[in-house]
Amino acid sequence: MSLSELILADLQDGILTVKINRPEKKNALTTAMYSALADALQRADEDPAIRVVLLTGCDDCFTSGNDIADFINFPPTGPDSPVLRFLNAITCAATPIIAAVSGSAVGVGTTLLLHCDLVYAADTASFQMPFVSLGLCPEAGSTLLMPQLMGHQRASELLLLGESFSALRAEQLGIVTAVVPQQMLLQTARSKALKLAAQPAAAVRLTKSLLKRGNTGQLRETTMFEISCFLERLSSPEAKEALQSFMERRTPDFSKFD
Ligand code: COA
Repeated sequence: MSLSELILADLQDGILTVKINRPEKKNALTTAMYSALADALQRADEDPAIRVVLLTGCDDCFTSGNDIADFINFPPTGPDSPVLRFLNAITCAATPIIAAVSGSAVGVGTTLLLHCDLVYAADTASFQMPFVSLGLCPEAGSTLLMPQLMGHQRASELLLLGESFSALRAEQLGIVTAVVPQQMLLQTARSKALKLAAQPAAAVRLTKSLLKRGNTGQLRETTMFEISCFLERLSSPEAKEALQSFMERRTPDFSKFD
């Protein structure tokens, strides 16, 4: 089963492996890719043969986040936008999701991990949430989930400065379940997926929903509010300068904005 060339999907032993596969653009996510990812998660929830979703990328890049050219040319406009469909699908997924992260996980590449149930990272993986540096604001409920996970000050450092951090740091902060040697990553994630797939499915789904239940209402409200702020920021002069400078491979100049 292939959802598209850029999002590969393969069902084996109750595990739906979904691979982000656009290595020449560091797995940057286009609207079509978000749609395919949302479809895969929806299919997992509808098909009882799928016990676990295993989400992965390429060796040198999990995903570099939203495609920046898409941000400029096809910005999301409302709740039906593919990126918002994907965020809704991963936030509400009933099927357990395991992520195997190798290489860079940037922007939504890091924030989507906050919605996964088990996250394994290669020792060489790196993480970054450069929303502020792009003149944007964080999304995917991360302004709620990050402080809950690690406290206000640590979350502020990662979100306000937008610096890259290591797999070891991500594990210390609770974003990652365990760090493993690069060559063991897929084997480890797959063996955990097989174990989870062999557990009684109804008990697994119930426990996942109970673990998330306390946060559901606040998470929905935060995600919706972040989205409205994010959409406003996308058309701000700061974001236009940041996104354009990435495309032109130059340093952005924010000095002319208040
Ligand atoms: N959107 C669109 N294109 C992207 C991209 C993105 N998010 N990330 C990388 N690419 C493209 C580059 O433009 C380049 O394309 P080109 O070969 O046609 O010029 C190609 O992918 C390789 O990227 P490059 O920057 O040369 O690779 P790198 O190994 O030096 O760095 C990253 C990898 C991920 C650290 C870096 O590409 C990066 O920071 N990307 C932007 C991440 C980002 O800000 N995402 C949005 C978060 S909201």
